[in-house]
Amino acid sequence: MTQHTLFVCVLCRPSEVNQNPHEAIAGQSLFNHLSEGLESCEWRESIHLQPVRCMGACSRSCVVTFAAPGKLTFVLSELSPTKSVPELLKFSEQYIACADGKVPYKERPEAVKKGIHAVLPALPSSTPALNVEQL
Ligand code: FES
Repeated sequence: MTQHTLFVCVLCRPSEVNQNPHEAIAGQSLFNHLSEGLESCEWRESIHLQPVRCMGACSRSCVVTFAAPGKLTFVLSELSPTKSVPELLKFSEQYIACADGKVPYKERPEAVKKGIHAVLPALPSSTPALNVEQL
């Protein structure tokens, strides 16, 4: 069974203009909501929720990344820590079910369509060894 990973930046914060110091960090809040949401998903064993400390898109919080061997990698940004959760869970299920991870654009939830930050090709299953003379 392919193992899928949903990386969630737990340090993401909205811009300082709207930041309330008494609120939980937005990224941590998103992680917590996703974790709770996954509890009720039949396919939860197929995806690992992984907290990370920054993915380099700090000005576009919140940020998550979907990755799996042999599949496209999706980096999503500008996600709401609460409103995006149902759509991220839906996309998780779609991503798991799709052999190459390329969920048809029309079928992607709106938060995913709007939040695309980067889509990276799948890594080759085996990397050819470099010849020393090529270096
Ligand atoms: S703090 Fe979240 S991407 Fe940098």
